[in-house]
Amino acid sequence: MTRPTLDAPDADISARAFWAQDYEIRERVFQRFREECPISWHRPYESELMPPDDGTPGFWSVWRHEEIRTVSRNAKVFCSGRGILMEDFPEVVSQMSQSFLAMDDPEHAQLRSLVSQAFRPRRMRTIEEWVRGNVVELVDELLATGEEADFCEAFAKLVPGRIFADFFGLPEGQTRHDVMDAAEKLLAWDDPEAAQGRSALETYGEEAQRLLDICFELIEERRATPGEDLLTWLVQAEIGGRTLEDWEIGSFFCLLAAAGNDTTRHSLAHGLSLLTRHPEQRALLLEDLDGRLDGCVEEIMRYATPVMQFRRTATQDTQLGGVPIAAGDKVVMWYSSGNRDASAFADAGSFDILRTDENRHLGFGGGGPHYCMGAAFGRMMVKHSLRDIYTRVPDIAAGVPVFQVNNFINGIAAMPARWTPPV
Ligand code: HEM
Repeated sequence: MTRPTLDAPDADISARAFWAQDYEIRERVFQRFREECPISWHRPYESELMPPDDGTPGFWSVWRHEEIRTVSRNAKVFCSGRGILMEDFPEVVSQMSQSFLAMDDPEHAQLRSLVSQAFRPRRMRTIEEWVRGNVVELVDELLATGEEADFCEAFAKLVPGRIFADFFGLPEGQTRHDVMDAAEKLLAWDDPEAAQGRSALETYGEEAQRLLDICFELIEERRATPGEDLLTWLVQAEIGGRTLEDWEIGSFFCLLAAAGNDTTRHSLAHGLSLLTRHPEQRALLLEDLDGRLDGCVEEIMRYATPVMQFRRTATQDTQLGGVPIAAGDKVVMWYSSGNRDASAFADAGSFDILRTDENRHLGFGGGGPHYCMGAAFGRMMVKHSLRDIYTRVPDIAAGVPVFQVNNFINGIAAMPARWTPPV
């Protein structure tokens, strides 16, 4: 059977080198896929996560908004339990770090509904003031550094880092730093800076283990001395008449450390970078900060797409956009491509904070059962950060960002920022 593909050397998304290129260069390739080959077949990624002789097959890519939503919303046909990323991970590694993100119903629904009680809209409203207070303190600390700083180090990573740490009840000091550091490196397994000479598998495995070790120690402490935090709640929670095992809590801790910390941090850095590169959009935002912030946050999520892909596996023979997909085939949804799809967004290539279309972006997923559980939380952190920053230092400007080499997270590793200190 011949499988549709784009036969062009610059369109080989399975080459590690492809991911070292600029996002906008990659987007031009994605655009060709959307227009010429919207469901395409690819050779296996040049992955260091699984041994090369493991017989890892290739995968399908889904490039358009509509078909991405179809895959995401049809979890019976496109499951998560057999891997969630373009690259395969050894099973033990997925189990220790991906929790219910890599499960299917009923197990997924059971665990998600247990944990999501902490993220219900009513609770989110009570959390909002607390998030705002933390953000104001962190902007104080950023501005106290003078008139320039690395925005990622001095602010972006600290916002979700501090909030996540308080939510989980992490002790002040080194532990908080270690969790943020491990979460960042965990999701940047292909990036030479994060890997520090290690293979991709060593990077992912060791950083996940670092998070688990911290979590296991804290579980013991909470059993002895319960607190008022998410970890205590998880230690005490019952599911189907039993308490959670340590590894289940640990795996969820890894998932949340990565899903909550890193995504938000990069969204913030992209926000400042985009508003600097598009001064007319920044001017529009500043004209009516409160009225336009929500739209601005959605547009950052669409345009930058901090989480670029997730994968499913077909559970049965099926068809997608007229292309036959066989049971067992891997199907990767390219959110970053769907978010620039001209059939879903007017003038899709423009960063436009006043978009009047519905902005049904895929930044938090395609709307299926795995839709981001922390979407409200993430939006809140980004919104309050931008509001406080642009209120106090409206002329803040980002320098040139250093991007991570990463096929999953659209990550900014470092980025200078300058501002006129408020008098
Ligand atoms: C602001 C930046 C964020 C972005 C861009 C983002 C994006 C995503 C995406 C794309 C998914 C997968 C959706 C799918 O497969 O259909 C996801 C899942 C998830 N996110 Fe987020 N996220 C963000 C923030 C957060 C925060 C702050 C938390 C928690 C505090 C969080 C917790 C989760 C969890 C637990 C899942 C797994 C849900 C499931 O499998 O049922 N995320 N996120």
